[in-house]
Amino acid sequence: MNDRPIHLLLFGPPGAGKSTQTDYLLQHWNLVPISTGALLRAQVARATEIGKQVSGILSRGELVADEIIIRVLRARLDALSPAQGFLLDGFPRNTPQAQALDQILHELHRPLHAAIFLELGMAEAINRLGGRRICHGGGADEIIHISDEAAVARCIERGGLLVQRPDDLPNVIIRRLAVYHAQTEPLLNFYRPRGIVCVVDAAGSPHEVARRVSAALEQMTRAT
Ligand code: AP5
Repeated sequence: MNDRPIHLLLFGPPGAGKSTQTDYLLQHWNLVPISTGALLRAQVARATEIGKQVSGILSRGELVADEIIIRVLRARLDALSPAQGFLLDGFPRNTPQAQALDQILHELHRPLHAAIFLELGMAEAINRLGGRRICHGGGADEIIHISDEAAVARCIERGGLLVQRPDDLPNVIIRRLAVYHAQTEPLLNFYRPRGIVCVVDAAGSPHEVARRVSAALEQMTRAT
C-alpha cells in the first residue's frame, strides 16, 4: 500500500476541522491536498471569471453549481502525476458530485481508498465558525478563535487585522449547516456499502482528533 498512491476524501459539517486535519495528515502521508473551498476562494480573490460567478454563492453559504465545481476538480486531478495520491477536502458535497467523482476516478484508474467522516455536533461547529478570525497582515495569516485573548493580543501587537470570512457570519453559518444536512450528510449512505467509510469523532483538540484520524486511516489502508 505504502508505495502506491493513496486516494482519500474528508467530509463532515462546516467547522468539523477538514482543513485542520488535512494539515496534520500531510505531515505523515504523501498526499496532494485538494480543497474545493480554498480553490474557489482563490478564484474569488483573483477576480477570475469563475471567481465572479461564485463569490455571491460562497457569501450566502450555498453550494456552487455542480458543473463548475466538477470542472475545477477535474482540472486539478488531471494535473496530478500518476505517482501522486490525493486528499479531497470539501468534495463531493452531494450525490451528483459523488457520482461524477466515481466517473472521473474510473477514467483515471484511481480507486478511492477511504472516505473519512468527521462527526461534530452543531453547537461546537457554530462555536468554531462563529469565533474564527484570520489574523491578516504583519506576517503569515494565522487562524485564531476570538475567545483566545492571548492570540488576539499577539495579532494586534504584530500590526495584524482580525478578518472574518464572509460565510462565517451567524446567518450564513446556519445556512451552511442546513445545506450540509440536506445534501452532504446523505453521502454517508452513498459510501457506506463500499466499506471505505471511517467515522471519526471530531470533538476535542485538533491533536486528539488527528490521532483518531491517523489510527482509523492506518487500519483502513492496512486492510486495503
Ligand atoms: P469550505 O471551505 O470547504 O468550507 P466548509 O466545509 O463550510 O468548512 P470550513 O472550511 O469552514 O470548515 P472545515 O471543516 O474545513 O474546518 P476548519 O479546519 O477550517 O467551503 C466553503 C464554500 O465553498 C461552501 O460553502 C460552498 O459555497 C463552496 N464549496 C466548496 N466546495 C464545494 C463543492 N464541492 N460544491 C459546491 N460548493 C462548494 O476549522 C474550522 C475552525 O475550527 C477553524 O477556526 C479551526 O481553527 C477550528 N478548529 C478545527 N479543528 C478544531 C478542534 N479540534 N478544536 C477546536 N477548534 C478547531
